[in-house]
Amino acid sequence: MKEFFTSSIGQKFLMSLTGLFLISFLCVHLTLNILLLFGDGTIYNTAAHFMSTNVVMKVLEPILAIGFIIHILYSVKLTVQNIMARPQGYAVVNQANSSKWASRNMLILGSLIGIFLTLHLINFFWKIKFGTPPTTIIDGTEMHNTYALVSSLFIEYWWYDAIYILGAIFLGLHLHHAFWSAFQTLGMSNIAWRKRLEVLGDIFAIIIASGFSVIPLYFWIFR
Ligand code: HEM
Repeated sequence: MKEFFTSSIGQKFLMSLTGLFLISFLCVHLTLNILLLFGDGTIYNTAAHFMSTNVVMKVLEPILAIGFIIHILYSVKLTVQNIMARPQGYAVVNQANSSKWASRNMLILGSLIGIFLTLHLINFFWKIKFGTPPTTIIDGTEMHNTYALVSSLFIEYWWYDAIYILGAIFLGLHLHHAFWSAFQTLGMSNIAWRKRLEVLGDIFAIIIASGFSVIPLYFWIFR
């Protein structure tokens, strides 16, 4: 077992598993945040309050953090191993023929997403958990006014909107390669399914990139 997780295929397996877990987080996160576009914040705040007080979410939060850490550490480790294992002269191979841009630049895209994520966590997560976020009362329950926190950032600073849109585009490009690749590594793909998974991955990447972009765009243009 230990040998499997220290082998290169075992490490790719762990990366794919954590990647699929992070993909499922993105689905939930986007669904919740799309509620920012509806109403005056009551729906969004109620849903965000439910998510942050729910026992299942409390259990999932540290698992999510561990998932991110494993995914990031192994992506760096595997890329370094691949570079070291390359024969001399590999760099002059015509890369345009060997693979597509997104697949060749997964570490760069991942690093840009990492920078975006750090800024994002400082913007919201840190302020909610360790700062003094605004509060509101809905149906007699006091809760964080997460809507005010998010909307004020997006309304006051146009360049944050631009950063969030860029972050969403990087994420979309990352998923364009990562989606089918994760299924392939986990052995859930064959010749027939490879094409289908690529199409599915592209549809998913477009939904995620445009969904996360629409939110800052909405506050930038309409509010
Ligand atoms: C318009 C885009 C986005 C908005 C408005 C948004 C909003 C938020 C908010 C308000 C929180 C704090 C939740 C809390 O602690 O109660 C949060 C946390 C978080 N966000 Fe985002 N987010 C966006 C995009 C993203 C993207 C693209 C990613 C992934 C690359 C991401 C990953 C996370 C993570 C990992 C957390 C910490 C876990 C959690 O609290 O759920 N977010 N986000």
